[in-house]
Amino acid sequence: MSLEVVTLGNEILRQKAKPVTEFDQELEDTVNEMFRLMREKAGVGLAAPQVGISERFFVTEAADDIPRIFINPEIIETAQEMVSGEEGCLSLPGVWAKVSRPVAVSLQAQDTKGKIFRFHAEGWLARIILHEYDHLNGHLFTDRLSANERNKVISQYERKCQNR
Ligand code: NI
Repeated sequence: MSLEVVTLGNEILRQKAKPVTEFDQELEDTVNEMFRLMREKAGVGLAAPQVGISERFFVTEAADDIPRIFINPEIIETAQEMVSGEEGCLSLPGVWAKVSRPVAVSLQAQDTKGKIFRFHAEGWLARIILHEYDHLNGHLFTDRLSANERNKVISQYERKCQNR
């Protein structure tokens, strides 16, 4: 299996992804390929829509954390307290911006066998999870910026694309 990361402008990034219904070998293979791609590109999270699959799952691998898989995630609760932190995205390579997000998140998800689990994350991992979860609903981190900041980041990104 060979997947590629799709970038800004690809419609799939704007679609609401569909639930996963088949917990089969193909799902395992897809997840493994996503980990491979994410590591190759030095990312810390990757959502299925970013590899052209409009389904509800993502993987994470933060520094000092184990690889994690979240299938059909549902957010149960987010902290009231917000914190601003630098984010980038493999679908907008080369640009970063400060995004405000809850400091913690609790969610429920399934593993690749379909088994349901609950998970609580704080800090950097909570940020990654919320960023990847946004991808499943067609949202990019730039959507969470002020209009000014968003225009700045998008034009930075477009300049980088022209120079590539
Ligand atoms: Ni992203």
